[in-house]
Amino acid sequence: MFLLMQESVRDLTPTPTPAPHSIHCSPTTALGSSSRVKTHSCGTISSLISHNTKHCCMFKSAEHWDDVFRGLSRKYGQVFTVWFANTPLVVITDIDIAREAFHKRNLTGRPSSYFAKQLSNDNHREVVFSDGHEWEAIRRTTQPAIQFSIVNTNRSKRKYSTLDKLIYLTVDCVDQTVKSMIDREGLDKPFIVKDYIFYMFFNIISASILGKSYTMDDPELKRFKYVLMDVGHEVGARFMLWDFSSFIRLLDRRSVQKQQQILTEMSLMIRNKFKDHYADYSDAIERDICDALITAKNEALREGKEWAPYLTDDNLAMSAMSLFLGGISTSQNTFQWIVLLMCYYPEVQRKLRQEIETQIGDRMPTHEDRNRCHYVMAFIAETLRFRNIIPIGVPHRALVDIQIVALKPINVNQSVFWYT
Ligand code: HEM
Repeated sequence: MFLLMQESVRDLTPTPTPAPHSIHCSPTTALGSSSRVKTHSCGTISSLISHNTKHCCMFKSAEHWDDVFRGLSRKYGQVFTVWFANTPLVVITDIDIAREAFHKRNLTGRPSSYFAKQLSNDNHREVVFSDGHEWEAIRRTTQPAIQFSIVNTNRSKRKYSTLDKLIYLTVDCVDQTVKSMIDREGLDKPFIVKDYIFYMFFNIISASILGKSYTMDDPELKRFKYVLMDVGHEVGARFMLWDFSSFIRLLDRRSVQKQQQILTEMSLMIRNKFKDHYADYSDAIERDICDALITAKNEALREGKEWAPYLTDDNLAMSAMSLFLGGISTSQNTFQWIVLLMCYYPEVQRKLRQEIETQIGDRMPTHEDRNRCHYVMAFIAETLRFRNIIPIGVPHRALVDIQIVALKPINVNQSVFWYT
């Protein structure tokens, strides 16, 4: 394997010498993204995965992933290759080169992987791991469904994220979470907040997409939690390696089987809930994102759009499921960092509270408050920059050979991500 990896280097953009022991960089920790990446002497990247808060040296990490990538860029140029196990990944670190490379459809593919195949396969496709025409069709439908939900009978459109409905729904989920915390933990002792934060974001996403929220004891919620959170903690960093090594999947076969079974169960459950929406669906009112997807599908069919055949109920329901997979752990881990940083920097917490009290006070927050709460918005942006849950994004796949300026070409099917 080592010799094969060395041999393949010739055709790649500049790369540190690969070694077969390199490990995929996993951003997941018990607390959230530690995002601390180490370079081996050979220059490959491995993750430092900490399940212990003591190892998350906030604002003090000597090996910040940003320094690592900038260091590699200085050494190997603006486009170089890193290795995750035996998989080469092209990294583009210059914004103009990234713009040129990601222009149009050239890089809209996704590399095939163990996890990708569970979601997008011959039976159904979804929005994150499909590519080509199917991805375009599903993306054309899911994005407007989320961003532009039809809110009233005269069909005027507003971004779903700016609707009062989303604010009320979010406030309800936060209130419900705080109530559960107080009922279960009391007010007089410290406790671990992780599960509650999961619960809060799960309900925000579930109520937005399916129109249904859960109590913490609900067995359905516990099944979802296993796939979205617990399996990662059960097997630790190895969970990320399942994508790269069938040998590790064989070693972990019990957890692998359990994960597959629960994911299949979850996808079936969401497909059924999606189909249930037809029973009392009306295009005059959208209750949730499933309704918005059905409306978008009907519109595409009515208008004879060429992509309409890709909008099967299974594909749309799986895309709704991808919003659970893509939206919960990202928000949950980011929020966990927010909580931790506020505890670590009480002065920052005081200023945040002061701005919220001055600008919002006791009234219901509105979307426009974002323009008034500059300190809060800066704090969120800085948290996302400092402890980004997906610092290197989700890899794309080249659909064609791409020649960038005087550099070696990025070959068709090669995996690429940008880091600028
Ligand atoms: C802090 C929160 C979040 C972070 C840091 C984050 C980050 C990302 C990143 C890096 C990608 C890959 C983009 C690419 O392909 O180049 C992505 C894609 C995606 N995210 Fe998020 N995300 C967050 C929240 C959410 C939420 C709340 C949802 C849904 C409710 C969501 C749904 C998706 C979907 C569907 C995709 C795939 C888009 C596509 O391939 O066309 N994300 N996200």
